[in-house]
Amino acid sequence: MTLQKALQEELQKALASIIEDPSLIPDGFIIPVNTTKDLQFGDYQSNVAMMLGKRLKKNPREFAQQLVDALEDSPLASAEIAGPGFLNFRITEAAWRQQALNLAADSRCGVPLEENPKTIVVDFSGPNVAKPMHIGHIRSTIIGDSLSKIAGFLGHQVIRDNHIGDWGTQFGMIVYGWKHFLNTEDLEKDPLKELLRVYKKINDACKDDASIKELCKDELVKLQAGDAENLAIWERCVEVSKEGLQRIYDRLDINFDYWLGESAYNDELKPLVEQLCEAGIARESDGAVCVFSGETEKPKNDPFKINRDGEWLDFPFMVQKSDGGYGYATTDIATVLYRQKHFKPDEVWYVVDARQSDHFRQLFDVANRLEVSTELKHIAFGTILGDDRKPFKTRSGETPQLADVLQESVDRSAAVIEEKNPDLTAEEKEEIAEIVGIGAVKFAELSQNRASDYIFSWDKLLALQGDTAPYLQYSAVRVKSIFRKLAEKGGAYTAPESVILAAKEEIHLVRLLSQFGENLPNVLTDCRPNLLSTYLLELARAFHSFFEACPVLKDGIEAPVRDSRLLLCDTTAKTLEKGLSLLGIQIPNKM
Ligand code: ARG
Repeated sequence: MTLQKALQEELQKALASIIEDPSLIPDGFIIPVNTTKDLQFGDYQSNVAMMLGKRLKKNPREFAQQLVDALEDSPLASAEIAGPGFLNFRITEAAWRQQALNLAADSRCGVPLEENPKTIVVDFSGPNVAKPMHIGHIRSTIIGDSLSKIAGFLGHQVIRDNHIGDWGTQFGMIVYGWKHFLNTEDLEKDPLKELLRVYKKINDACKDDASIKELCKDELVKLQAGDAENLAIWERCVEVSKEGLQRIYDRLDINFDYWLGESAYNDELKPLVEQLCEAGIARESDGAVCVFSGETEKPKNDPFKINRDGEWLDFPFMVQKSDGGYGYATTDIATVLYRQKHFKPDEVWYVVDARQSDHFRQLFDVANRLEVSTELKHIAFGTILGDDRKPFKTRSGETPQLADVLQESVDRSAAVIEEKNPDLTAEEKEEIAEIVGIGAVKFAELSQNRASDYIFSWDKLLALQGDTAPYLQYSAVRVKSIFRKLAEKGGAYTAPESVILAAKEEIHLVRLLSQFGENLPNVLTDCRPNLLSTYLLELARAFHSFFEACPVLKDGIEAPVRDSRLLLCDTTAKTLEKGLSLLGIQIPNKM
């Protein structure tokens, strides 16, 4: 049990002993207990006396005093009143000792399982076949993976679905390009690169020559009509793209339960549009079919209205184009219905660029009108910027490819390792560079507030001293090396039955270790992996301070003290490892 929960329970008991009429407490009332921002006031605080005082017709300060009196013999914490009736709690040393032992023995590092687990579909990554899988997709891929891991660890049932863009108008160009520009040898070697080259080439050709654009359209019409040759090209193209994507996912150690791309819903689009029309949700408009406002909201909250020069205009959601084709919107409605039917999820999380927020607001509104009961959430993220604060570009002005970014990060790490640790074997260097390079890119994503844009900087990403993955990885390696040194000296560690916590650095380390189980569920409140990142940085810093102040293996350190400190080291190693693994970040053996 977390200390926060334990305190809540004690307060609950204290409350029951004071209040004569329990019906005065609102149903489902949860006693607020939070960690204090400033340790000088204690470890936890509660404003319960102020919240309930009025209801119970009690003066908050007197009420708080009654609670303090009732908690007087608590082995858990001492309580004090501050201001108009705040309660501050200081965890007792005995309770910290017990907590240290509990955490050391707990394989979940103190993280409780969710009491009401949900089924959650996480829709993330979703690159577009044959179009560039660019750096923008990195955010979705990495944030989506981490959220999936965290939700899974907390006990939710997570379904990871890669909604790839494997259908759509771009395939007219791709089929034409495939027929005229493809180099099959290069396709074998690096499918994504070759497809991208072909895509760019045909894209340019279309810009220069309107007749080629027409020819691409013809290929699209043929494909949509089920032409065998074009279908075969499309299929092959999707297949090699998936292989290429899988290589990137393997490198990132990310996997999916499903790859239900846009094309999976092709057969459902026509009946869906009919259903929408029959239900009066969509109607014909200038040859197209669109969903318009349900007129149930004020215009400023209505996803189907847009303000142009002070006037509110219709902003429809197009479900069928005037040429009869269907697009992203229609597929997404079909996807909502499919998931509802087959996965029966409680929630669906769309980890997608903030620039698509209008699309999702409209989609969710349509789902609502179709009486979909699943809670749909857009987990939006901002744009990655370059030093010039404009969307991140390569030197030649192109959007960087994900695979290239990963490789560059690994190469840069390799250079740092070469400089700092030339004596490692080539194999070791390579392995460490891979783990550090990939970890650094992931952490750069996961340590940002996802909603904001952020500036991509190699120096910041890879700094050993800073809020980076290499710093955390190095911290974990350092903790683990203590046990290696112990073994080298011929010693062995078995967890002691009691611990000694003398130094304030020891207590502070336990305090942080203990917060893991309180912080992790909060990450999902608003889907913010950066809360976990910040926590891990704080834990690492607490460890380094502890390690500086409290020698572990030095001569003259007695066995009980040593074992007690080793217990803290062991629990730190376990917690850092768990936390980093939830961010998808590995730890090398050496660094
Ligand atoms: N393929 C889309 C893109 O690259 C992302 C798909 C997100 N998922 C969804 N269900 N719309 O922008």
